[in-house]
Amino acid sequence: MSRIRLLPETVASQVAAGEVVERPASVVKELIENSIDARARKIDTVIRRGGISLVRVIDDGCGMDRDDALLSLERHATSKIRSAADLQAVATLGFRGEALPSIASVSRFRLTTREGDAVAGTEIVVNGGKIDIVRDGGEAPGTQVEVRSLFYNLPARRKFLRSENTESRNIEHQIHLQAIGHPQIGFSLLRDDRMLFQLPAALTLGNRIRDLYGIELLERLVEVNSTPSGNIRIGGFIGQAGLSRQTRTQQLVFVNGRAIESALLTAAIREGYHTALMKGQYPVTFLFLELDPAAVDVNVHPAKREVRFRDPTAVRDAIVRSIQQTLERSRMAWQEKFRGPPITPAPVPENVIPDLKLRPEIAAPRETHRELPHLGPTAAGVATVAGVVEPSRPLAGPTVEQAHRPPTDSTSEAVALQRSQQVSAQQQFQIIGVLSKLYVLMENADGLVLVDQHAAHERILFEELRRRMEEQGVPTQKLLLPHTFDVPPRDADWIELNISVLQKMGIGIESFGPGTFKIDSLPGFLNVSDPAQFMRKVIDDLKSAGNNTSPMRLGEEMIAKTVCRHAVKANDPLRYPEIEKLIRDLLDCDLPYCCPHGRPTMIQVSLAELEKKFGRKV
Ligand SMILES: Nc1ncnc2c1ncn2[C@@H]1O[C@H](COP(=O)(O)OP(=O)(O)OP(=O)(O)O)[C@@H](O)[C@H]1O
Ligand SMILES: [Mg+2]
Repeated sequence: MSRIRLLPETVASQVAAGEVVERPASVVKELIENSIDARARKIDTVIRRGGISLVRVIDDGCGMDRDDALLSLERHATSKIRSAADLQAVATLGFRGEALPSIASVSRFRLTTREGDAVAGTEIVVNGGKIDIVRDGGEAPGTQVEVRSLFYNLPARRKFLRSENTESRNIEHQIHLQAIGHPQIGFSLLRDDRMLFQLPAALTLGNRIRDLYGIELLERLVEVNSTPSGNIRIGGFIGQAGLSRQTRTQQLVFVNGRAIESALLTAAIREGYHTALMKGQYPVTFLFLELDPAAVDVNVHPAKREVRFRDPTAVRDAIVRSIQQTLERSRMAWQEKFRGPPITPAPVPENVIPDLKLRPEIAAPRETHRELPHLGPTAAGVATVAGVVEPSRPLAGPTVEQAHRPPTDSTSEAVALQRSQQVSAQQQFQIIGVLSKLYVLMENADGLVLVDQHAAHERILFEELRRRMEEQGVPTQKLLLPHTFDVPPRDADWIELNISVLQKMGIGIESFGPGTFKIDSLPGFLNVSDPAQFMRKVIDDLKSAGNNTSPMRLGEEMIAKTVCRHAVKANDPLRYPEIEKLIRDLLDCDLPYCCPHGRPTMIQVSLAELEKKFGRKV
């Protein structure tokens, strides 16, 4: 007996709709994409009850005539591609001719549309995929799609919807994505009769980000401005090192104007940030990739959320490079703030508040062995450090004592001072004091800077060790007893492949039979109690870091893990010259504003912010 039957048309279209329309936010996404493809300048969205009871999208795009409007509701009817060849290079957001019929098959649907020069428009009402009414309509030029009672005919689907709040938030996020992807279009969202946002058409992406997320965020972003590599151009904004979020909602990537989620892109961004990102945190990115449409396959995901790249390695490398270049530029801009003359404190009239006068012993940077003043209600000390010796990294070793031993010899001090007078001021700042035995307070051209002395020292040690590793290789230390350990076949292959890299890193490792390895030495700066366990951890970490493991990368991972133990801790009181040296060394670092784990080392509070807080400026 035959068991296979053709599904009735309505069931077939509901099955297909299941792929396209997961939830109200997918309806919003599809409708807005259609409006963008119709070259709308303004797109307004209205939702009720999380979009479950109503989604309405109104645009001022090209509209459709009656024949097209009817055709748009047919499955596989599209104006965007004509042949299989067109599918190889899709330049529009839509291309399948599936969205409208899918949405119409699972809702009570109404489409009203009018072309700009047409006398009358068309209104079509569809219920559960069946066209009920077609008549003339008199709306403004453009298209309006109204979707009511989503999934009313699919109770099983409806059960999977989340709370109205969650669905509303998903919709809001979806419109944010579209608004960031298309700043030149105005967007608004009305939720249950409340206007959530109204974004005017923006001239630039920066303006759109400001309108959506506020000037505070925009000020902490850096514009991506990297040299195009091959056919890939990358633009947009990314967060400064140290700016991160607990979720991925502000890690946005657009490929040819389409918001894309992809493990490849996420990994590339993470790699670009490298030590500038805290573990478990996500960067803030508004990254725009433009590449030849033929180099991207958009036809791989039912909701068009993913793409496949013809040359994924090239895309990955381009992203990593552009993020690195951008962070590098932002570092230079940051350092600039320490080069301008610091604001000279207003003179304090002697006879009015004598207690606030500069304490002479603190004002003299030559006094090397004096404890810094702790900030108290009456003792606000100001120490001046202007004109600084050339950048130097005479870090003797990874211990605190060695790294920050103050110069004891008075002649060397005199020489340093002399040099500081000759060398033009490279970095200028004034150290004000230390707060809570941890935060160094200082003043630079922009205002107040707070430095976390522990994080700062971690960064300095990290870069110093890395530099030494690059220059001299890693000093190794023989183990008292060689250790052998077994690994599963896949890890064994990985070690075999990377054995020379591991050796360069100071790990004395060699094969000791199938699946077994022997280690007899480890990098000197490590303090490892169980070498086998350590190796397994290193392998896991590095395998997840990517394919092109380099000795540098491997070493950095290990160094980052170890410097923390050696760095100055909070509560370690530092003397004035030690602090001064710490700050100078920090400013000389490649990535001065975050520790190797991505936590910020410095926080800048600008004068403008202070003025705002004190109500001097609104
Ligand atoms: N807002 C609109 N303004 C003008 N034309 C529209 C609008 N929405 C849809 N259309 C027309 O209807 C057609 C069908 O839309 P539909 O969304 O179903 O398919 P698509 O956009 O071509 O592909 P996809 O299924 O990938 O979205 C489109 O190709 C377009 O010509
Ligand atoms: Mg579409």
